[in-house]
Amino acid sequence: MNKKRNSHYYQHPQNIHSLYHKAMSPIHWNEDNSVGNSHIDQQHMEWVRIFNKLEDTLLNSSGPPSSEQVELLKQILDFTREHFLEEERIMALHGYPNIVRHRRMHKDFELQLYEKFRLVIAGELVLHSELIAMIRHWFINHTSSEDRRAFEFIHTTTDHT
Ligand SMILES: [Fe+2]
Repeated sequence: MNKKRNSHYYQHPQNIHSLYHKAMSPIHWNEDNSVGNSHIDQQHMEWVRIFNKLEDTLLNSSGPPSSEQVELLKQILDFTREHFLEEERIMALHGYPNIVRHRRMHKDFELQLYEKFRLVIAGELVLHSELIAMIRHWFINHTSSEDRRAFEFIHTTTDHT
């Protein structure tokens, strides 16, 4: 079964390709990928910047990670956690009805990252390309569907007068 067709991998057909490009090239963020909230867009751009550095270094090396690579793994994990908390703070503030489900998706991803990174640092996960593909896939799908849905709700329920 094609995983992308799974019900929880809802995709926005008009922008999924602009993020995807080739499976193993850097993610290119552009305005089409906006979730409609400039603060969150800025954080997504920063996340992409860190991810692209991580992808570049991990795919161009093998074996146990260098200290710089370990730093980068920690950096993206820390930034991901901070960013998720910020999204959840805004969702709670605006009474987003699917916040529990959204928070669970964040938590699941955080745990996956933590576990995989632990294995990379221990030298037990050598197929870095699979890890990078998993992270890329999750981020693209999540931001283009779940985040967009949440921030569209917040935008339409916020008083803009
Ligand atoms: Fe999110």
